[in-house]
Amino acid sequence: MDTVRGASAPDIEDILTAWAVSMPYDPVSRSALEAFLSNPRYCQTGSAAVAEKDGEAVGFAAGIAAEENAGWIPVFFVRPDLAGGRLADDLLDFVLEYLKRRGVTYVRAEPFEWSEARFFTGIDSRYSHILDILERRGFVRTDESQVDIVKDLRDFRPADDVAAARLSLEREGFTFTLCDEVTRRPYLEFLDKYFERYQGWRIGIRRQLEAGDLARHTLALLSGEVVGFCAFDKETDWYIWASGVREDLRLKGIGTILVYLALEEITRRGAERMLVSDCPIEFYKILNGRIERHYVMLGRKLGGAL
Ligand SMILES: CC(C)(COP(=O)(O)OP(=O)(O)OC[C@H]1O[C@@H](n2cnc3c(N)ncnc32)[C@H](O)[C@@H]1OP(=O)(O)O)[C@@H](O)C(=O)NCCC(=O)NCCS
Repeated sequence: MDTVRGASAPDIEDILTAWAVSMPYDPVSRSALEAFLSNPRYCQTGSAAVAEKDGEAVGFAAGIAAEENAGWIPVFFVRPDLAGGRLADDLLDFVLEYLKRRGVTYVRAEPFEWSEARFFTGIDSRYSHILDILERRGFVRTDESQVDIVKDLRDFRPADDVAAARLSLEREGFTFTLCDEVTRRPYLEFLDKYFERYQGWRIGIRRQLEAGDLARHTLALLSGEVVGFCAFDKETDWYIWASGVREDLRLKGIGTILVYLALEEITRRGAERMLVSDCPIEFYKILNGRIERHYVMLGRKLGGAL
């Protein structure tokens, strides 16, 4: 028999099994799933659902009603062979009904902040069956520019044109440097003032600076004020996870110089490759790296009948 029902902690084992079958490009750990299901910011009664076929879990979905009128579906999957059927629609409807009850009028199928709820970094374009369901149910593609890039650093040399651009900006009074004890505070003030909307970044950067390795951030300064940054870190591999430039100073090459300075530092620390995940290709094309994954973001209005 096919059923869709609310998901809770005792379902973790079944969800992990179904996840491994249906989401091969997005492995999830038990601890991440546990953290998700037990965090009231992401999961509330009726916000996450399991789809079952003959008693076996074959799908999982969750909705987050985070802001006034705005909701997210940070995860949604069913076994590929069931994507064309009623069960997939019922699973999606379960979550959409929840979001509607919470007053959501626009829902996004895309990552929710930079948080533990970030199972998808958008929907990998290879999950065509998931995209089919969402599009069949009225979602439209809002962004297809997000990619994961791998940059091989084995023969890395700073590019000549980047070095020339840096010299020219330095003549205008800009400086480019690794973050240190002196620049740490102006850096945080810059983020609070100019990147107020990027709450996930501000929290993540503050945490990283508190953890101590300040030199995992490159900074651009003008007259002693921070005007741009690039933040990088290491898990298994080194990766760049955020970069930003003050809006009135964009498209002058500052972002590129900050990213290349980060690459120099990452190479100096012995890395042979570096990743950028879930990033806009329009900017990170500057890396000249290998594109590993493409993502699709989708959204739809919610109101009336589903
Ligand atoms: C992305 C960002 C850091 C770029 O900084 P910048 O100093 O303007 O970047 P650069 O001047 O070095 O631009 C490098 C290239 O990227 C392109 N580019 C930069 N931002 C772009 C954008 N928003 N859309 C399209 N292309 C863009 C530039 O045209 C340039 O390409 P070109 O060399 O072919 O002319 C800046 O726009 C920003 O802070 N954006 C908001 C935060 C963000 O989205 N960060 C990226 C995700 S981590």
